[in-house]
Amino acid sequence: MMSVIGKEQPRVDGPLKVSGKAMYTSDHHFPGMVYAVPVCSTIANGEIQTIDTRVAENMPGVRAIFQRRNIGKLFRAEVNHEFGADMSRLDERRPPLEDDVVRYSGQYVALAVADTFAQAMAAADAVKVTYREHEPNVDERLAPETSQKVESERGDAEKAFTEAEIQVDQTYDLPPETHNPIELHASVAVWDGSSFTLYETSQGVVNHRNVLAQMLGVPKENVRVITKFLGSGFGGKLWPWTQSALAAAAARQLGRPVKLVVSRRMMFQSVGHRPRIQQRIRLSATRDGKLTSLRQDWVNHTSILDDYKENCGEATAHMYSVPNLRITSALARRNVGTPTPMRGPGAVPGLWATESAMDELALKLGMDPVELRLANEPRIDEGLKIPFSSRHLKECLSTGAERFGWSRRNPRVGSMKRDGLTLGWGMAGCSWQAARFPCAATVELRDDGTARVSCATQDIGTGSYTIVAQLAGERLGLPLDKVEALLGDTRLPPGPLSGGSGATAAVVPAVLEAAGKAIDSLLALAPNADLQYTSGRVHAKGEPASSGIAFEDFLRMRKVRAVSGIGSSEGSGAFGTAKPTFSSHSFGAHFVEVTWQPEIARLRVSRVVTVIDAGRILNPLAGRNQIEGAVVMGIGMSLFEETSYDPRNGAPINSNLADYIVAANADVPSLEVYFVEYPDTNLNELGARGIGEIGLAGTAAAIANAVYHATGVRVRELPIKIENLLASP
Ligand code: MOS
Repeated sequence: MMSVIGKEQPRVDGPLKVSGKAMYTSDHHFPGMVYAVPVCSTIANGEIQTIDTRVAENMPGVRAIFQRRNIGKLFRAEVNHEFGADMSRLDERRPPLEDDVVRYSGQYVALAVADTFAQAMAAADAVKVTYREHEPNVDERLAPETSQKVESERGDAEKAFTEAEIQVDQTYDLPPETHNPIELHASVAVWDGSSFTLYETSQGVVNHRNVLAQMLGVPKENVRVITKFLGSGFGGKLWPWTQSALAAAAARQLGRPVKLVVSRRMMFQSVGHRPRIQQRIRLSATRDGKLTSLRQDWVNHTSILDDYKENCGEATAHMYSVPNLRITSALARRNVGTPTPMRGPGAVPGLWATESAMDELALKLGMDPVELRLANEPRIDEGLKIPFSSRHLKECLSTGAERFGWSRRNPRVGSMKRDGLTLGWGMAGCSWQAARFPCAATVELRDDGTARVSCATQDIGTGSYTIVAQLAGERLGLPLDKVEALLGDTRLPPGPLSGGSGATAAVVPAVLEAAGKAIDSLLALAPNADLQYTSGRVHAKGEPASSGIAFEDFLRMRKVRAVSGIGSSEGSGAFGTAKPTFSSHSFGAHFVEVTWQPEIARLRVSRVVTVIDAGRILNPLAGRNQIEGAVVMGIGMSLFEETSYDPRNGAPINSNLADYIVAANADVPSLEVYFVEYPDTNLNELGARGIGEIGLAGTAAAIANAVYHATGVRVRELPIKIENLLASP
């Protein structure tokens, strides 16, 4: 065993991507295809009064201008949050064009369809819409509009806080962040009179199919969703957005394939974002650094119609040992598009606040921040009162400290220098839930000597094709060039979302079982012989594999083209079951160095060491790459990312990649990533927990903590701006 798993395997889909042969959603073209461009509301709050389409309708190439009265019937989908083949989730529930009320800037109010993209854009521009406008509410101050709901509670946090000698009481702000994968959201819809084939940018084709079938009012057998390659999603493509239903409805009305590619500007309006979040954190401790209470009270903004809750307490209740805890949430409605999960939803903003507060507590105590965390290591998940399936945070902290050289840190602010620069060293812990989604897969052994593994999960750029091929190759004893992986199509056995860093843990048992069953089917072709399968060969039991024949020859001898097996895994862990018996999470620690030049107010992240405990790493190359990418995103989150809404018209005003700044190569130093490998076999037989989002968790706090150490300025509102640091002592 373990000939393919655990090896640094380059991506099996790499050659397709670098040669331009990988078909992304908007690469699909069909005879007679037409192009759709939405007309977007220019107000954020009000009602549509008139839509004048006369000019647009008579422009060259225009096929139709759709609005509420001619788009055809679109229904509300019933929501089913349960992960699995029947899942049906979307965050913006109102079907597009359902009524004449405008609730956010950029809401689709009409759709222009023409023979070319340029014609459709011109026609969309020529549609004249008048509105009755009300003042939009995009207020950045988040007074809760719903009462604080208790998310987790133990002991008496208020009493313990009041009685404690050492207290921290601070509020941490996070601006709205917008997912900016390179690939734009896109839908290409084909309608043949009874069935839809939808090429989508989806992190979950099965869920997308289930939602769209309901919205279009057809049986789900009549909808096929295909996502072969994704230029990433970061959570923004987990659920369907309104452009998908619009493209499908337009295809049905016109009897032609319709392509709709959302613009970068629309990406900031109508396909989700991480909401603005305000968190008040109250910590108390004894003089020797034992936590006595922890309170986290957050408010996140949401849209007018949908209750999107950012689960900021996701990591809080189990992160440290603390007898008294209370976590509460509330929503504040704004005239913005509906928020949605963005990489590490809940835990990432939550840990930004709690890990910043832990640093502030360490300062008050005069204690090393690593020591403070080690001193509060819990024995069990004190929130759920169940054991951890596997938790090695202490080793992440100690390994990280050692690799980084933390023992050389002088805690005095601004005291460390190198080459004329002031150094800041900061750190933070991190956690991200580990779950196993339900999953089915098939494996086929074919008479050309290849195997094919199929599953309706998708590869969002993270390496799922490679992992799935590795799993089948491992069990079948075949090299990767003999294994074909098919993903991203609802015709395949129902597979998991590419979300929650959960796809890997889900596919492991299903693919291994399917491969085992394919071998059983193969051997069953000769029921009376006592045969065995080893590394692609069929041979007499007890004899060496070399004494037998290749499985493809065996198939040909039996005149069989292919045999197959099906495997499945049940859901388990935090996402999967209502009453888990183990608390499953990945853990880690980031150690960050920043350089600060007060003379010119230049701040740079100069070094990051990250140690992650994510169970067994199936492919260290893809695994490290996931963490590196997430840390890059953490640098962006800390220093750059912020969506700004214009208070006058409610529009996201920096809705492009020049004004919404993400971390680029020049912002990123060399990153060191290490794994402590403890297979978590409660999740699957290989003990793999899946990785990705955890690399972003805690990173912003580690950077802000390093910035404090360099400058003496505690920044509690991201992103950290030069103007925050000009007050530097
Ligand atoms: Mo992740 S926010 O589940 O893509």
